[in-house]
Amino acid sequence: MKRNNQPKWLSDAVFYEIYPQSFCDSNADGIGDINGIITKLDYIKELGCNAIWLNPCFVSPFGDAGYDISDYYTVAPRYGTNEDIKRLFSEVHKRDMHILLDLVPGHTSVEHPWFKESLKAERNEFSDRYIWTDSIWEEPDKMGSLRGISDRDGSCAVNFFSHQPALNYGFYNPEKKWQMSTESEAALSTIEEIKNIMRFWLKMGCDGFRVDMAGVLVKNDNEEKSGTVALWQKIRKFLDEEFPDSAMISEWGEPDKALQGGFHMDFLLHFGPSHYNDLFRCKEPFFSSRGKGDVSAFVEKYKENYEKSERKGLICIPSGNHDMDRLERSIKGDNLKIAFAFLMSVPGAPFIYYGDEIGMRYVENLTSVEGGYDRTGSRSPMQWDKTLNAGFSLASPEKLYIKQDESDDRPDAESQIADENSLYNEIRKLISIRRSHSALGNNSEIEFIYAEKNEYPLAFIRSSEDEKILVIINPADREVSFPCEYKPKEVVYSFGKEIACEDKKITVPPCSAGFYRI
Ligand code: NOJ
Ligand code: CA
Repeated sequence: MKRNNQPKWLSDAVFYEIYPQSFCDSNADGIGDINGIITKLDYIKELGCNAIWLNPCFVSPFGDAGYDISDYYTVAPRYGTNEDIKRLFSEVHKRDMHILLDLVPGHTSVEHPWFKESLKAERNEFSDRYIWTDSIWEEPDKMGSLRGISDRDGSCAVNFFSHQPALNYGFYNPEKKWQMSTESEAALSTIEEIKNIMRFWLKMGCDGFRVDMAGVLVKNDNEEKSGTVALWQKIRKFLDEEFPDSAMISEWGEPDKALQGGFHMDFLLHFGPSHYNDLFRCKEPFFSSRGKGDVSAFVEKYKENYEKSERKGLICIPSGNHDMDRLERSIKGDNLKIAFAFLMSVPGAPFIYYGDEIGMRYVENLTSVEGGYDRTGSRSPMQWDKTLNAGFSLASPEKLYIKQDESDDRPDAESQIADENSLYNEIRKLISIRRSHSALGNNSEIEFIYAEKNEYPLAFIRSSEDEKILVIINPADREVSFPCEYKPKEVVYSFGKEIACEDKKITVPPCSAGFYRI
């Protein structure tokens, strides 16, 4: 079955997320840039990743690190120029890789010319581009608003921070005079503008988008998110017609809905109903060696999503992202390798947040930078080697975008590449095993066979037309066993001691992971 017209390249994509300001600074101003990224493409490829998600890199006042755009068509000067990003696209393609940009359709910054026009008392083309009530004394329900900054009488709904006015895609069930329908001229013209933006970058050579806050565009939507799903189906149609090889990945956290909307893949996130946090980021994460976690609710929800989405697209379990705590904040040492054995053996295209491949740490006690707040500690500059600023920049350390991890034993890429037992090399091995086994591929099936409440291990079977692989994951620092009617025939991957198979029972050593052909 053709999944939402999935582009072929997505079927074996392994992604690397780049936060541009923190990846590599090529001109010693303390902030990462596009030319810096180009110099590190070979590093990304060497790790085994063949696709990139680049966080927003457009003109912005940077009140939310670039998720507050004031010109969708121009690269922010601090990162370079449109010519630079065009060169990045071509350098990526030269290496048989692909790259997604970040599309932020839900809101702009207050500096966007559309917003400045929409503030005006006289009606104009942009008066309804955002969601305005018709009196300053009325606030839009549940949304928060920007008020008292315009001659125009009204309050403007915001989407996230209060400096991010919400673009108008209409209301699912308009109840008040100022609430427009999803088919109103204003709502449809916002969609056209978003298509224009997509067209511009896809024509220039990007391969698709990660879409910010994709699930909340239509306001007062129903529980099934029918309004927002219908909106994305319109965009699906446009892409099928004009850019069939482009990929669309949603920040939504509800694959059952996002994939109906025509996305190729949806992220499980630290918010929403997915129980993703139970794995790595809660008081007792499943992947901690303490072995007090519970994976069962996560698996139940995953199975529900898997069925409901009718294989229309993929579900992504990322290692983290720029909004979450670093994985290393709660998962330590060898357990990071076990976490990656899981991340590299589940369906969906894997996503590695830059620096997670070397176990970069969350930097504690930082003052917020550009609206990062507690996310700032997960956004510190990449640690490449043991030179000045860990090789990120030649600027003086106090000029760096965010302060780096100052500990003497901070991990760095160069040392880990040289150490065959490093996390980096384990992940590299895992990606290469994933690539050489069709059963472990992005689109291949998964069937959970052991995921009991408060119990370890986790076991599942991945299968393709020509092979079946049993995956056993035991992050707990104790030996465990589980009933299993399959007999492992050949070891495809193992970390830790060997498992023992008796009649219909498998005993799993402490802190171990293994993939077995059955
Ligand atoms: C999600 C982005 O990942 C986050 O960084 C941003 O602050 C919000 N959306 C608002 O755009
Ligand atoms: Ca720079």
